[in-house]
Order: sequence, then structure tokens, then C-alpha cells
Amino acid sequence: MMEKKRIMVVEDEGITAMSIKSSLEGMGYAVSSTVFSGEEAVKKAEEDKPDLVLMDIVLDSKMDGIEAAGQIHSRFSIPVVYLTAHSDEKMVKRIKMTEPFGYIVKPFYERELRFVVEIALYKHEMEQRLRKGEKELEKHREHLVELVEERTSELQNINKKLEQEITDHKLAKAESLRASHLAALGELAAGVAHEINNPTNGIVNYAQILANQSKEGSQEHDLAGRIIKEGIRIAGIVSNLLSFARNGKEEKGPVGIQTIVYDSLALTETQLKKDGIRLMINVPSDLPNFIAHPQQIEQVFLNIISNARYALNQKYPGAHDNKVFEITAKKITADDSPHIQIIFYDRGIGIPPGILNKIMNPFFTTKPYNISTGLGLSISHGIITDHGGNIMADSIEGEFTKIIIELPVGK
Ligand SMILES: Nc1ncnc2c1ncn2[C@@H]1O[C@H](COP(=O)(O)OP(=O)(O)OP(=O)(O)O)[C@@H](O)[C@H]1O
Ligand SMILES: [Mg+2]
Repeated sequence: MMEKKRIMVVEDEGITAMSIKSSLEGMGYAVSSTVFSGEEAVKKAEEDKPDLVLMDIVLDSKMDGIEAAGQIHSRFSIPVVYLTAHSDEKMVKRIKMTEPFGYIVKPFYERELRFVVEIALYKHEMEQRLRKGEKELEKHREHLVELVEERTSELQNINKKLEQEITDHKLAKAESLRASHLAALGELAAGVAHEINNPTNGIVNYAQILANQSKEGSQEHDLAGRIIKEGIRIAGIVSNLLSFARNGKEEKGPVGIQTIVYDSLALTETQLKKDGIRLMINVPSDLPNFIAHPQQIEQVFLNIISNARYALNQKYPGAHDNKVFEITAKKITADDSPHIQIIFYDRGIGIPPGILNKIMNPFFTTKPYNISTGLGLSISHGIITDHGGNIMADSIEGEFTKIIIELPVGK
């Protein structure tokens, strides 16, 4: 059996209230309660949740029927039908605001009451259904939005992967190009070195003869000694060039930081001096050795020195007191273990804060594209990481740049 619809009656005249109640029951409705004041109507509506409220407008209470109906409708969305004997313009206006479901003028016939109540209940039910439909529609819409978002993020991932693949591909290509350049340069250097080595040997040997034949303390003896010294220097530079050209084929082994710094400078010092750069070296000889590919570390240092030289020349085209480049090395503890820390400090143009975290990215460069590939620091980063170390940059634009390298001291 269908459950009876429950109706609340709000009427302050006892007799009228009773007659309405019996009429409703006669029509097959249940009366959930009969109340006499607006305040009580709101309270009871909340407690009983009736399906409909029949509301007298003029009540013998502080809160009149229209106000009570407004609250009941808006707070509990229970439909309200008004019952009243009289109405004026102002009242009709207020009534409209409460969105009533019907209106009955007293005195009324039973069939009028039946008709209005039935219509109000029907209208309310339709409205509920509509609302439910809207909610479902909203749910579907949300689901659709979710689906679209999912797809979008899938696509974004695919896109990212593709971009990565393209970068990897470019990187591999550039690296192989660089390797082949280096190899060609290596061959050339090896050839030139060999060609220079023979005459240099000759020079040193002939100077030695001169030295032997001249009296100690004489000007000839002194000059011959200087020729020998300079000749040996040439031989050193050449052998350095040769080992750099052989690049990285050797095994890792214990190396001293001082040796690598000086070997790197042997190849660059002349250029630095020519540019009027003031070089300061603070690399103690008693620092512990570490395990490394010396050529690779040298390549890192050469990259950093070349960057510093460029930055200094950008800031000071000629010689200058502040055109300073400093290399400092010391022993430190990092991650609880001993490390050698090398700091390359130049007072060149510095690096803008916005790009400081990009400089180690492959292909990142601010230099003209025909002179730079933007791979120097990215390769350096690779090499240092490969040696279990760290490489960091610190800079203030227009002031200085510091490249800090920490390499673990093996046992
Ligand atoms: N000492 C420095 N002072 C100022 N800027 C620097 C310094 N070192 C690096 N940079 C900045 O970092 C960028 C990347 O350096 P990186 O060595 O990787 O490439 P590059 O020098 O531009 O090109 P490449 O080394 O391949 O010739 C440089 O273009 C420059 O903007
Ligand atoms: Mg560089």
C-alpha cells in the first residue's frame, strides 16, 4: 500500500483547524500535526518533515504565516499552500516571494482543498525529480571533465617523452660530433707535437753543448741555461697536449690536484696572460690524491677556465686590476667523508639569477652560436658526477662567478 502523504496544518482557530484535519483525513491524507503559531510551525516542520504545509496567513503569533512559510520552504524545501480569508496588494507581494505551491481563499469547499493539495503535491514531486535529474547531469558532466583531464595528462606525458627523446637524440648527435672534432684535433695535435718534439730536443741538446763549453758564471753559460729551461718547458707543454689529445683512454688512477691544475694552466696560461688576466693560484701541494681519469678532470678545468676567460674579457676588454681569476683548493668534509674542494672564482660579468640553474643544461648558452655549443658545463657535470663528486655554481650578476667542485678522496 502506498504510504499516506503527511500534511501539517497551521491554523490558530481551533474549530477551523479540526475541520480541515478531518477533511484531509477523509481524502486519505495523514495530518502530521496541527499547530497554532508561526514559530511552532517552523519547529514542527523541521521535526516532522511533512510532505506539505497548509498555512493560515493571519496567526495569533509574533511570526505570521508568510514569514513561517518562507522559512519552511527555503530551509527544508517543503511546499506550502496558503489558506486565508483576505488579502491585499502588499500581502500578495510578500506571498509571491515565498514561492507558494497554492492558495485557497476561506471559506472553501472540500473539493477545492482536495484539488489544490493534490496539485501542490504533484508539482513538488515534479520539481524534486527535475532537481534529481539535474544532479545526475552534473555528475555526468564532472565525470566527463575527469575523463578529459585524464586524457590531457596522458597526452602531456607522451609529449614530454617525445621532447626528452628529441633532446637525447640531439645530445647524442652533438656529442658524437664533438668527439669526432676532438679526435681530429687529437690527431693534428699528435702530429704537431711530434714535429715540435724533435727540433726541441735538438735545441736543448745544442744548448747543453754550449753550456758545457762555456765557463760557469759567464753570460754564455747563463743564456744556454735559460735556453735549456725554456726548451724543457716547451717539451712539457707538448707532452701535455699529447696526453690531452689521447683523451680518456687511460684507466682511473690516483692523481694529485696540483698536477691537474698546473697541466690545465700549461695549456691556457699564455692566453690568460695575453688577455691581462691576473691569475692567483692557491693549491697546496700536500693535498691528498684522489682516484680519477686525469684527462677528464683536466677537460672539466679547461671548460671552466675558458668560461671564466670569456666572462672576464666581456667585462674588461683590456687589462684591469679587477680582472682576477683565482683557483683555490682545499680539503673539506662533505657527506661525512673527505673531499677535495676546488673553487674557480672569476670577477667577470657573472650570471643573471634567472638562468643560474640552467647553465649546466645541455645546449644552454648565452654566447654567439657559431662559437659555442653550450655543452661545456653539461659535459663537465657529467664527468664530475661520474667521479662521485658535485659541481655547483654561485654568482652575482655583474660581480663574480664561482664554480665549486667537490671530489671524494678515495681510501
Ligand atoms: N664564469 C662564467 N661567468 C659568466 N657566465 C658563465 C660562466 N660560466 C658559464 N657561464 C654561463 O653558462 C653558460 C653555459 O656554459 P657552458 O660552458 O656550458 O657553455 P658555453 O660556454 O656557452 O659553450 P661551450 O662551453 O660549449 O663552448 C654560458 O653560455 C654562460 O652564459
Ligand atoms: Mg663553456
